[in-house]
Amino acid sequence: MKQSDPQISDKNIKWHHLTVDREKLENMRGHKGMVLWFTGLSGSGKSTLANALNDYLHKQGLSTFILDGDNIRHGLCKDLGFSDKDREENIRRIGEVANLFMNAGIITITAFVSPFQTDRDKVRKIIGNDFIEVFCAANLEVCEQRDTKGLYKKARLGEINDFTGISSPYEIPSNPEITVNTGTLNLSESVEKIVNFLTEKDRINLSS
Ligand code: ADX
Repeated sequence: MKQSDPQISDKNIKWHHLTVDREKLENMRGHKGMVLWFTGLSGSGKSTLANALNDYLHKQGLSTFILDGDNIRHGLCKDLGFSDKDREENIRRIGEVANLFMNAGIITITAFVSPFQTDRDKVRKIIGNDFIEVFCAANLEVCEQRDTKGLYKKARLGEINDFTGISSPYEIPSNPEITVNTGTLNLSESVEKIVNFLTEKDRINLSS
């Protein structure tokens, strides 16, 4: 659990230990909390896959929750835009929120473009061993051709600034736990790939 952070202690704020802790909550739920961090270009299928995986795990009786980029930007992060700095803050906030959900023993699925390796690595550091980076690897050509929200067209016309893949970079994860070829696999194959990984690593046990 959290250790005292000297910078915070200087503000006379102390960490408060809770009686109903992560372990108790995980025991109640019958599985560990973790963060499945989906990253990939806009249109790579993050939200669709996150939703399908969530649906599958929920039906198996597991405690799950999704934090999704477009939804979170309607509320918690509605003050943020798409500059590098705003994206950094967006991912920092989501990392902290995901950590809270994980500590409630929940399988937390996040779906954010999260284009920068350093920002993802900072979240990895907050979460620790229970951070599972899932790279949705559909490439730019596929995403732009799909253009489900019509945003690539707008970005090409210069109507959207700093658009990931067009006028802002996407840094491919250097060492993701799972790479899902969302450009070629169908939805159920993609869900299966993640479920198989979680099962093989003893992160979930669907037979119990
Ligand atoms: S992130 O880069 O900070 O992780 P986030 O996942 O929250 O981005 O939001 C991305 C979503 O916002 C995209 O799926 C797209 O629908 C929308 N969007 C609007 N403007 C942009 C932009 N400039 N770059 C990327 N996505 C954008």
